[in-house]
Amino acid sequence: MNPSANEIIIAPSLIAADWWRVADCVRDAETAGCQWLHFDAMDGHFVSNITLGPMFLQALRPHTKLHFDAHLMISNPADYLDDFIAAGADSISVHVENQPHLHRLIARIKEKNVMAGAVLNPGTPVSTLEAILPDLDYVLVMSVNPGFSGQEFLPLATQKIRQLSHIKNERNLNFKIQVDGGIAPSTAPQVVQAGAEILVCGSSVFNQKTKVEDNVSALREALEEALSIPAP
Ligand code: DX5
Ligand code: ZN
Repeated sequence: MNPSANEIIIAPSLIAADWWRVADCVRDAETAGCQWLHFDAMDGHFVSNITLGPMFLQALRPHTKLHFDAHLMISNPADYLDDFIAAGADSISVHVENQPHLHRLIARIKEKNVMAGAVLNPGTPVSTLEAILPDLDYVLVMSVNPGFSGQEFLPLATQKIRQLSHIKNERNLNFKIQVDGGIAPSTAPQVVQAGAEILVCGSSVFNQKTKVEDNVSALREALEEALSIPAP
């Protein structure tokens, strides 16, 4: 049974926003009906880019009620969990790659009543998460190689979303499926039909050429159409 288009969460990724006007971008996302804001934290070590840290969330927190979703593309997330939580993160996702203590990391996030997610890079199989799926609030499937917005969508992500959706139904689990990278009106239909429920959208929402409101409407229209087709 397909979810309705309104049940799909749109999470604009702020690294694609115009940081000179970030307050306006947040307000635009709110007005456009987005429910989450996605914060891409990068340390220049886990990925070859450096972006934002907890202070960025802290600065925005008092000014919006939107859900803050922190995606940690950093080598030692355990060292910064408390800072992101104190700064106001409502959900935190950590990469499974090079995380020997993932189970403990997820438990630490959840014990602070913050949603805990695990992230799979394009080359990382779903099977990596098999033991921990029951503990997760969400799984983030990367549909680009992490580090930058504006990249091409990788279709291999769709099959991984389908696989996760199948496991979720088969094992009666209730983690949400989030997808991140190259999500736009042209790619959103296939990922939601495969089972994605939270869409991270950077350049398709904040592209500084067209209005945020119009970009989100175009996404919603694509979702309406995709989800009106009965699930196979
Ligand atoms: C990439 C980030 C994504 C990215 C999304 O490492 O995790 O959130 O910024 O941007 P788009 O939607 O432009 O691919
Ligand atoms: Zn991200």
